[in-house]
Amino acid sequence: MSTRMLRISHSQVRVYRDPEELALKAARLFARMADQYVIGCGRFTVALSGGSTPKAMFSILAGEPFLDTVPWSSIYFFWGDERCVPPDHPDSNYRMTRETLLSKVPVPAENVFSIPAELPDPTKAADEYAATLTRFFLAGPGATKTGTAPLSNLPRFDLVFLGMGPDGHTASLFPHTAALQAGERIVVANHVEKFRAHRITLTASTINNARNVTFLVAGEDKAETLKGVLEGPYQPDVYPSQLIRPGNGALLWMVDEAAARLLSESKQG
Ligand code: 6PG
Repeated sequence: MSTRMLRISHSQVRVYRDPEELALKAARLFARMADQYVIGCGRFTVALSGGSTPKAMFSILAGEPFLDTVPWSSIYFFWGDERCVPPDHPDSNYRMTRETLLSKVPVPAENVFSIPAELPDPTKAADEYAATLTRFFLAGPGATKTGTAPLSNLPRFDLVFLGMGPDGHTASLFPHTAALQAGERIVVANHVEKFRAHRITLTASTINNARNVTFLVAGEDKAETLKGVLEGPYQPDVYPSQLIRPGNGALLWMVDEAAARLLSESKQG
């Protein structure tokens, strides 16, 4: 069965049979982009998300043919969001990535920039990560060739992977939370009432400054929200995923049939 492509408003949507096919296609996209940016710019910068689909993609990337062909030593890894836990905690997005991918591929330790979410003060953790990003994108390896976007102090990732929760959140931008109003800040600590906890998250501005943003969304429980996000009225307080509209970059939704179930076949915008 071939991939269905939809164009809804300003978004490109690709629909895959099931979460397995979605994870494989996402792994291929990662590998292709890594090649393209390493050849063109000498490095590839990617921000990863937590969630089940990325996890499946990471396991695929840790095996052949990717293990031997991806230019691992020129890839720089960052995270879009993190729970406020130490890096060895079962809820840590960093830990999940280390276990499924980073410990299995030849990525130098200095290429991995995890969020210091173990710090007791979430605001300090967010500020430190923002400073790390600023340093890297202004003066890190390859910065002279790529760097930040003109007229912007925001980092410019080559690729940001995002998931979407059934409530429409993405990264740790949850409905009706303060981080939705973070303006041009790079990273913020966001209090999420339903967890009675803080999360650390890239802001929508940072995500929207990326060259490529790719959502990975699978599952029946996302169908209604996906339709609301892509085809409903703009109400980002309700559906924070609607905030994601890269100003000078490409937005791609990779979704499975179950999540795409309610989408119009094609609706030009
Ligand atoms: C996290 C995330 C989060 C996630 C979505 C979707 O740390 O939880 O980064 O935004 O991507 O909740 O998760 P699933 O793909 O597992 O549904």
